[in-house]
Amino acid sequence: MAQFSLPKNSQYTEGKQWPKPANSNQVQEFRIYRWNPDDGANPRIDTYYVDRDDCGPMVLDALLWIKNKVDPTLTFRRSCREGICGSCAMNIMGQNTLACTLGIEDCKSDSIKIYPLPHMPVLKDLVPDLTSFFAQHASIEPWLQTETPEPETEWRQTPEERSKLDGLYECILCACCTTSCPSYWWNGDRFLGPAALLQAYRWLIDSRDENTGDRLNNLHDPFRLYRCHTIMNCANTCPKGLNPAKAIAEVKKMMIARAV
Ligand code: SF4
Ligand code: SF4
Ligand code: FES
Repeated sequence: MAQFSLPKNSQYTEGKQWPKPANSNQVQEFRIYRWNPDDGANPRIDTYYVDRDDCGPMVLDALLWIKNKVDPTLTFRRSCREGICGSCAMNIMGQNTLACTLGIEDCKSDSIKIYPLPHMPVLKDLVPDLTSFFAQHASIEPWLQTETPEPETEWRQTPEERSKLDGLYECILCACCTTSCPSYWWNGDRFLGPAALLQAYRWLIDSRDENTGDRLNNLHDPFRLYRCHTIMNCANTCPKGLNPAKAIAEVKKMMIARAV
């Protein structure tokens, strides 16, 4: 059987134990992945204690509390704090999700563990490098493509045509699904992954778009589309409740329909 071992510099060590807040009746422990590209040290897990009586209810509130009151060097992305921008995606208690929409209470743990999204290069602490993820999204050309002359007012759609975009347009490109996909872990350089493929289907199914043939050609490849093996991690983890696996299956059906 093949033996795998991690390179020495990727193995994490026990980090710093930060002080508990004084005079607090309700303390929550957090164990958080730390890595600084500038100090040459291995990643480490720091332990922080948050005063629940002084902190908002969400995991993102706790991260901000730590950054503002304990350790300003803790690095993570966030913007909207309401599940719209996708910036605060990270791995919390083993699940990829948004820190701003997950309640501390819902973690149901004495010690909440937080890591960056898995299987992506880390830039610092909880910040993954999403360059390749967004390049893959750009590669599906996520904009309306038409041949008929532009209408004077707007492109019309019937309510039925518009409803086909439900469950697709809500994607916030947080990358939770793509970084939970085993096929993407192994072939992330060639397989587009669930987020980009859900977006591809969003444009394929749009009644106003007139470039279906080229869009399908762009996906017709043993890796770009067909590395999806319907493992369903993507649908299980999406914090917006979307189902990329179903969208991928629909793209495959469109491929078959045009071949017959
Ligand atoms: S269903 Fe496909 S895209 Fe989704 S996690 Fe599984 S292999 Fe990846
Ligand atoms: S499908 Fe869901 S998990 Fe995937 S990028 Fe979109 S919102 Fe995030
Ligand atoms: S901060 Fe925008 S989705 Fe969490």
